Amino acid sequence: MAFRFNFAIEENESTEPGGHGEADSQLDPPKHEQSADGAAACSPRLGTAKHAGKGLSENKLCFPGAREHHVPEDVSKVLEKKVLETVSDLRYVNVSVVEMMCRDGTHGEDIVSKSVSAHSDLIPGVYEGGLKIWECTFDLLEYLAEADLQLANKAVLDLGCGAGLLGIAALRGKAGKVHFQDYNSTVIDEITLPNVVANCVNDGNGTGGGDSRKIDKPPSKRPRKAECSPDALSKCRFFSGEWSEVSRLLLSSNPPCSKYDVILTSETIYNPDYYGALHDTLSQLLDKNGRVYLASKAHYFGVGGGTYLFEKFVEERKVFRISTVKELDKGLKRFIMEMAFKDSS
Ligand SMILES: C[S@@+](CC[C@H](N)C(=O)[O-])C[C@H]1O[C@@H](n2cnc3c(N)ncnc32)[C@H](O)[C@@H]1O
Repeated sequence: MAFRFNFAIEENESTEPGGHGEADSQLDPPKHEQSADGAAACSPRLGTAKHAGKGLSENKLCFPGAREHHVPEDVSKVLEKKVLETVSDLRYVNVSVVEMMCRDGTHGEDIVSKSVSAHSDLIPGVYEGGLKIWECTFDLLEYLAEADLQLANKAVLDLGCGAGLLGIAALRGKAGKVHFQDYNSTVIDEITLPNVVANCVNDGNGTGGGDSRKIDKPPSKRPRKAECSPDALSKCRFFSGEWSEVSRLLLSSNPPCSKYDVILTSETIYNPDYYGALHDTLSQLLDKNGRVYLASKAHYFGVGGGTYLFEKFVEERKVFRISTVKELDKGLKRFIMEMAFKDSS
């Protein structure tokens, strides 16, 4: 089955000034067909004008505070009622099944029914898109492999992780620790954590040796070629919340969390209203000689952000140097950008 990414803007909705109405006519749905054995179809719809373009400040939203999500002792619970699929040799939970289970409104944030009723995969300040796997994740996965980026023993953050495939790839690369952050706690509980568990356990019977947590029998459709190291799960921590809040939580922990050698982030610069918080988070959490790898589309119609705007923002702040390390031209241009502190080695 193929991955389908369909970005749709509702008709007649994007005509307000600054609402990028003029861009709607250019909105060819950039469908990305990713051959993915057994992968479920997933179709992120990028914010209706009703919601999109209005960030945290403009909407005067009360965004969620940050919190850490602990891995349960019995990790088999995390995979209960989940259906596993495989893409790019990584396991992930079928999102439609999760959405079906979470549609009853009994899950705290209730992001599934809100996203369904808003016909949108982004509701700024409420739901930031983490239930779906967005296509630039695959660009960055490909880049990490091509560039043969050495992650062994590195401290890695998958920022705005959603499914967490980038962090899982880092675990496969033998990273020393991998932290996952998503805006929505439902995403961490129902998607990220199950995906990490699904990739950290051996096929069928156990934790892979090094981890003391027990798993009865994870669902398994097919064997994998590559495995996470046996103790991979114990290297992981999971956080939900808005970026500034997550930074504050990490920096105020006792002892404070050490900085990250590598921050991986995909499709997180669509909303210019978040650039300040994102930039500050990167500058607070990246090690002085660390690197950020950011995957993004050139422009997000209907929301307004994209690589050009973000690059300009970063240059004006004069904290990081930023450069393009890979350009993909698949209808709409997509980029992998590298960031490092200006005074780094
Ligand atoms: C479009 S999703 C991309 C998910 C994933 N990286 C991917 O490529 O599939 C954007 C992600 O950025 C994060 N995000 C966006 N704005 C945020 C904010 N203001 N604070 C914290 N996280 C935010 C959310 O966690 C969300 O999952």
